[in-house]
Amino acid sequence: MGIEIRVEGLRKSFGRQVIWEDVTFTIPAGEISALLGPSGTGKSVFLKNLVGLLRPDRGHVYVGDQGDVPRLHEKQLYEMRRRFGVLFQDGALFGSMNLYDNIAFPLREHTRRSESQIRSIVLEKMEMVGLSGAEEKLPGEISGGMKKRAGLARALVLDPEIILADEPDSGLDPVRTAYLNQLFVDLNAELGATFLIVTHDIGTARVLPDNLGLLFRRGLVMFGPREMVLSSTHPAVNQFFNARRKGPIGMAEEKDQAQIAEEGTDPGVRPAPIQPQLMPSDGRPRPAMRRPGEWLRAHRVEAPPGSFIDDEGRDWRTDWDRLVEARQRPK
Ligand SMILES: Nc1ncnc2c1ncn2[C@@H]1O[C@H](COP(=O)(O)OP(=O)(O)OP(=O)(O)O)[C@@H](O)[C@H]1O
Ligand SMILES: [Mg+2]
Repeated sequence: MGIEIRVEGLRKSFGRQVIWEDVTFTIPAGEISALLGPSGTGKSVFLKNLVGLLRPDRGHVYVGDQGDVPRLHEKQLYEMRRRFGVLFQDGALFGSMNLYDNIAFPLREHTRRSESQIRSIVLEKMEMVGLSGAEEKLPGEISGGMKKRAGLARALVLDPEIILADEPDSGLDPVRTAYLNQLFVDLNAELGATFLIVTHDIGTARVLPDNLGLLFRRGLVMFGPREMVLSSTHPAVNQFFNARRKGPIGMAEEKDQAQIAEEGTDPGVRPAPIQPQLMPSDGRPRPAMRRPGEWLRAHRVEAPPGSFIDDEGRDWRTDWDRLVEARQRPK
């Protein structure tokens, strides 16, 4: 089962450059959360702080009951990292090892499994990410997308309780991205692990996660359930999740006040329709999925027109009970 990560008052700088400060939020156990933000806002740095590869200037990171990450000793960190599967932005594969050995590495490092057990796990994960047959390839001989998928296979071999993935979908073609998103949903349904995915893909962000967060202007602007974030009229949140040009976010991260004033207010500030969430392959809602429209109703927020209608014209708010009933029937 997944575990929660509680982040309190986190601040990180490099020299005089403050990356972000006062980041406080809880990544809920067993749910899929996504973190977005313009390039350079410190998303990758944030993930590295969660696993103790970078130390914050101040603040706390509590991973379940494992203690405060910035204050753990090497040995405790080593134990804690076992619970994580991490896919780094560049894949972080060992250049001199073939894919098989790269993916087997955490099993050899952290477990006492026999080589034949290792073999079956490695081949299973490689098949899962579409890399069967590439066991002997060196990282230097494969495409960027393949490196990503190899990194993901390696992140999964220890059946982690928390999966962190830094732009797993960058460098993948649209079809592979669709497969990858489905894989995340199915893994979450099966393992109940906690997911934190950094992505630039708005299409993914709008249908995959249970919770969304936005890093901007040296802070976490918003983090919460998908319906809260996708219906938000907060200027930066609205601009980002609707991929609009008008708004406080510019090419070089943020625009100056003059430029914002010149553009005027965006008449298109109405949030786009909230689509139904991506379902597991077996058609049963994940335990972490919330009833469509529930957050909006509880907070008296009107759903953006056209929300929760799928390609066949069905309204998921009224069909939800039928879907849940299907989940409760034995397989
Ligand atoms: N080890 C480091 N030393 C000094 N500065 C660093 C270090 N790592 C990151 N930075 C700086 O921190 C800032 C945030 O970097 P980070 O890689 O976290 O951005 P990001 O949000 O992941 O961007 P992208 O979307 O392009 O991946 C950048 O300005 C970067 O130059
Ligand atoms: Mg990054």
